[in-house]
Amino acid sequence: MSHLLRKSQLEPDQSETLDPQDWDDIRSLGHRMLDDMIDYIATIRERPVWQPIPDVVREQFCERLPREGTELGEVYRAFTDFVVPYATGNVHPGFMGWVHGGGSAVGMLAEMLAAGLNANLGGRDHVPLEVERQIVAWTREMFGFPLGASGLFVTGTSMANLMAVLVARTSALGRDVRHKGIGDDGALLTAYASKAAHGCISKAMDMAGFGSNALRCIAVDAAHRVDVAALRAQIAHDREVGFKPFLVVASAGTVDVGAIDDLASITALCREQRLWFHVDGAFGALGILSPEIAPRLAGIESANSIALDFHKWGQVPYDAGFLMVRDGERHREAFAAPAAYLRRETRGLAAGSCWPCDLGPDLSRGFRALKTWFTLKTFGTAKLGAVISRCCALAIYLERRIRAEPSLELLAPVNLNIVCFRYRANEANRVNGEIVVNIQESGIAAPSTTMLDGQLAIRAAIVNHRTDVSDIDALVEAVLAFGARRAAESDLPEMQAPPLAM
Ligand SMILES: Cc1ncc(COP(=O)(O)O)c(C=O)c1O
Repeated sequence: MSHLLRKSQLEPDQSETLDPQDWDDIRSLGHRMLDDMIDYIATIRERPVWQPIPDVVREQFCERLPREGTELGEVYRAFTDFVVPYATGNVHPGFMGWVHGGGSAVGMLAEMLAAGLNANLGGRDHVPLEVERQIVAWTREMFGFPLGASGLFVTGTSMANLMAVLVARTSALGRDVRHKGIGDDGALLTAYASKAAHGCISKAMDMAGFGSNALRCIAVDAAHRVDVAALRAQIAHDREVGFKPFLVVASAGTVDVGAIDDLASITALCREQRLWFHVDGAFGALGILSPEIAPRLAGIESANSIALDFHKWGQVPYDAGFLMVRDGERHREAFAAPAAYLRRETRGLAAGSCWPCDLGPDLSRGFRALKTWFTLKTFGTAKLGAVISRCCALAIYLERRIRAEPSLELLAPVNLNIVCFRYRANEANRVNGEIVVNIQESGIAAPSTTMLDGQLAIRAAIVNHRTDVSDIDALVEAVLAFGARRAAESDLPEMQAPPLAM
């Protein structure tokens, strides 16, 4: 070794660290970056919601691995020229596709501070973990969960739902399942969700080793809520033929139309049948902060677990998914795995057990809690709740505009903040699909689509706190204009029919 390494090679050499030679340079560029991003958010309305990516821009990201470094200013220029103009668009108030939160300048600043601290929230004894525990306590309080309830930040609700399935699995089969696998007993376990449940639930069943066929997809009523009588009948039938029902996943805001399942009736059914009751509240659960929506979530306080995203209606920048489990011990049993190198102490940096790595699959974890803490503390839950109420009021405004336009029709009841509609036309699925693409490419708005009973719907999910009446009007005008153009181009007569009574 000694002949390989000379002492002089280990002498401190400033140029070998990744810190700048001149802190003032990075300070001034850093201030510019901050100013630029604040300007970006402040002037977001002046830009298209989204724009197609030119080939030349994509090519910027097909470079060979950079062996030599590039000056930071040049890298930043590439970011401003090629990344910023071609982002998803969900900061923009005209973005209504899928279910995307708008973020906030406060959240952005907190994210910068978190990156500066570079804290690892897998475990150990440091205040960033107390910040996450503060959010756990606040979330408990929001939903009326007991003190023993545990919570954890994760990427998003897809991950939180998977983890809930795993906690329910360990609870049903006992801790041995973690060593032996689900075995013959596990192969008989069945779970239940409505047909309108998000696809990540069936994916979670698949990833947990049950297979997606073990998820029974129950019919919904006219309001797109799970048919509780059909749910009860399916559970009874499965028991009769030898299956072992273990889990019901209710939706608090279905992804297609925003329907909230009857959580109180499902609570009663799960209690009676001794089933784990999980709520997928990806966006809808935070409706608890809105005085108008909260009563419709009655029953959520009795769930065994809730998955939700602070990055949706909580307006926290991506990503900030969250899982809360009523019985923290059950939660720990599903994930804790002692290891010599993760030994706990009562003093020193290795104190403070239980650690978040005992409650989920991740050991290294970022400081998602900080941007959530800043958001909740800076705005307060009353204001965040008012934003949620406003999104729902805008959805009703959009519904009214659709009902007033003979060439538009509503395709689903407006439950919450999601509106599904279409332009009346022959070959309506093709025409409406094209209308949505045209609107996205125009930069005016960004709705998405979904299929409802074989009909392609233009789907507007109003989640962004910046969206206002003018954005809804712009969407309606764009649908009418592109719809009329499509109908003229295809030379097909438009079908005029009275609006659907719903
Ligand atoms: C009802 C519902 N569940 C789950 C998800 C998945 O959440 P995430 O994208 O945060 O993983 C979504 C996403 O929109 C959703 O609406």
